[in-house]
Amino acid sequence: MRARGVPAGAAMSFVVAHITDTHLSAEKPYFVANFERFGAHLRRAAPDLVVNTGDISVNGADSRDDLVAARDLHDALGLNWRAIPGNHDIGDNQETAKKQPIDAERHARYLDVFGEDRWVIDVPGWRLLAVNALLFGSDLAQAVDQEAFIADAVAGLDGRSLALFLHKPLFFADPGEADPTHLTVSPGPRQRLLDAFGAARPRVVCSGHLHEYRESLIGDMHHVWAPGTSFTVPGLLPTHGGEHTVGYVEIAFEADGRFESRFVRPDGVDILDLADFPGAYGDLRRIKTAIAE
Ligand SMILES: [Fe+2]
Ligand SMILES: [Fe+2]
Repeated sequence: MRARGVPAGAAMSFVVAHITDTHLSAEKPYFVANFERFGAHLRRAAPDLVVNTGDISVNGADSRDDLVAARDLHDALGLNWRAIPGNHDIGDNQETAKKQPIDAERHARYLDVFGEDRWVIDVPGWRLLAVNALLFGSDLAQAVDQEAFIADAVAGLDGRSLALFLHKPLFFADPGEADPTHLTVSPGPRQRLLDAFGAARPRVVCSGHLHEYRESLIGDMHHVWAPGTSFTVPGLLPTHGGEHTVGYVEIAFEADGRFESRFVRPDGVDILDLADFPGAYGDLRRIKTAIAE
């Protein structure tokens, strides 16, 4: 906790650096240099917590070495950090996966390296809830466990505001969007999740996956789409109202329930285009519809 230079008794804030889509690997280290530039910046910024909302690795869904390399690079930050998986770390949602669907082996491998795929942290005025979005709609037993975990997290709010962290956006613009897509949480699991929140909907929802920066208040929820630290995908995907860029989002959660967020692109980081790195996921012109974001 830090007081941000204000006198004792003034409002305290808990500052989260929301990073995402780091896409790290020792074998394919194309995006490591950018990550280390972010790291140097974050050590100076000294947030209370760094949260990575997934696609931590290039191909942890099939490579334990990629997961280990990504974890080690996070440990080397020298900062307090937590993570949740993305589709490239643990496999994609079974309903929409074009390849690498989440399965028990991939899930177990992720847990073995990162220790957790969901967590709750309570800070003054807020509960930070992070979930494994790739389990939504899954037939794995862990999906049932996670539903109970979410129900417990909501039941235990005790007056705190809720902030939700997950890899994929809940939706593009409307919670009623009906077309299943691998780009957002699918309609069925989305409604199930919103039902689980009931009247205690998250006030802030932080996601990655799209490699696009956007913030928007939709209904009573403020949606933060953090861009990756790794690369942009201008030739692969249109934007959805945001910006193809790299950076992170700093969010200060205040004890009185207010919050402030701001986009940060540290000096010296490169806005890389994935199309220039065919060694990472292949030739985008050929696999344009197969690669996940
Ligand atoms: Fe993703
Ligand atoms: Fe990604």
